[in-house]
Amino acid sequence: MSSSRENWGSKIGLILAMAGNAIGLGNFWRFPYQAASNGGGAFMIPYFAALIIIGIPVMLIEWNLGRYGGKYGHGTLGPMVYLQAREGTKPKNAAIIGAIAGAIAFGVTLLVNSYYNHIIGWTLGYGFLSITGGYMDTAKSTGEVFVNYVQNPTMVFTFWIIALTGLAFAVMRGVQKGIEAWAKLMMPVLYTFGILLAIRSLTIGSPVNPDWSSLKGLNYIWNPDFTSFSWKSAIAAAGQVFFTLSIGMGIICNYASYLKPDDDVVVSSLATVSLNEFAEVILGGTAVIPIAYAFMGPDGVGQGVGLAFIALPNVFRTMAGGQIFGSLWFLLLFFAGFTSAIAMYNYLVALMEEDLGVQRSKAAWYVFFGYIIVGLPVGLEPILTKTADLAYLTEVDNWVGVYLLVVLGVIEVIAAAWLMGHKALEEMNKGGIWQIPEWFFNIFHRFLTPVVAITLLFFSTLDYIKA
Ligand code: PFF
Repeated sequence: MSSSRENWGSKIGLILAMAGNAIGLGNFWRFPYQAASNGGGAFMIPYFAALIIIGIPVMLIEWNLGRYGGKYGHGTLGPMVYLQAREGTKPKNAAIIGAIAGAIAFGVTLLVNSYYNHIIGWTLGYGFLSITGGYMDTAKSTGEVFVNYVQNPTMVFTFWIIALTGLAFAVMRGVQKGIEAWAKLMMPVLYTFGILLAIRSLTIGSPVNPDWSSLKGLNYIWNPDFTSFSWKSAIAAAGQVFFTLSIGMGIICNYASYLKPDDDVVVSSLATVSLNEFAEVILGGTAVIPIAYAFMGPDGVGQGVGLAFIALPNVFRTMAGGQIFGSLWFLLLFFAGFTSAIAMYNYLVALMEEDLGVQRSKAAWYVFFGYIIVGLPVGLEPILTKTADLAYLTEVDNWVGVYLLVVLGVIEVIAAAWLMGHKALEEMNKGGIWQIPEWFFNIFHRFLTPVVAITLLFFSTLDYIKA
């Protein structure tokens, strides 16, 4: 199996593909709405703490497990344990644990995609509206335009299917010709548009209220607010770190499984985190939140999942060249979502191809139909109920993006740091330009990362039960 596996074509291709995997709708759609609805400055403190204490250590583990597990196929932990048990290098009953872990990761990935792919569809639909001037008429608020969009079956389902078909074909082409080629094209464009939009965002005053300039909006997330700490916003921040870095489900492991055995993992994983955080807090945070603030004020920014689709068209419809800027923004969102969705799609295909022996193109179509089934309720909810708060989508996003990813991440880090133990550190440092010192591994991987993540899960569950 492993001898015929593909590898990344080049170092730059690998880094761009990993950045494309991590940088997604999480950065430009999810981060702004999570930060804004969890108190802005109050969210950013647990966010950075979770990034350092949990996010970076888990990212290192996933690269490490992935490269190590490449010889077992797609490189994810559960199935790897399953195969090791069958091979006799792990106790027999480990096979069951491995298979269950693999099935959970498969299910969680499907669930993320039940809504993720719809949002990619929205970006295409909104790109179409930008080009055709569909939201330029100021008689309707951008909130109403959004409601009309999600309740319009033709728009919702046409662009969703287009997005899914594009993904299926990209994944069928494999690692170098599919994933790497798209990342090399899309990621530089994404950064360029992101920088342009962030600059534009900072230079607008508020047409609604002179007190709501975009710079004040920037202050809203960058002004640390220690007084409004809550377990709910802390777990939301940790969940966001998992979501944005693509950690928890094994998606990073899967990309790392296409590394060669002595390719570096330490510097490359830190590079992925840095590229992602730049896109998230600098570009995503600056492009969306200040604009939302300028048009909706401090009480309006926390309005939920539609933020990226509601706030920005306000600017485009009132500025010169708005249709062009609007198209750029939705193209950016599309590229971000597409390169991450390829990663998740490839993961599911690799699991089917390498564990169940299904041919790649067939597996791609099975996943396509799986996505349709899990995605239908998400698309149908606003249409059938004539509501627009996207309660079902938000609920799934909350469970998956917050709880399940953190739970899976805890299992992963405990398995690596305690069950693999010192070998995990040796593996991580193999072929590395930089070495992870032993004290870091002992303090973070073995202690702080699991303890802090479990504490967060515990107290937020208590809060949930009490509420
Ligand atoms: N990291 C990607 C994003 O920020 O949009 C998508 C993603 C991949 C989310 C994998 C969650 C995940 F487990």
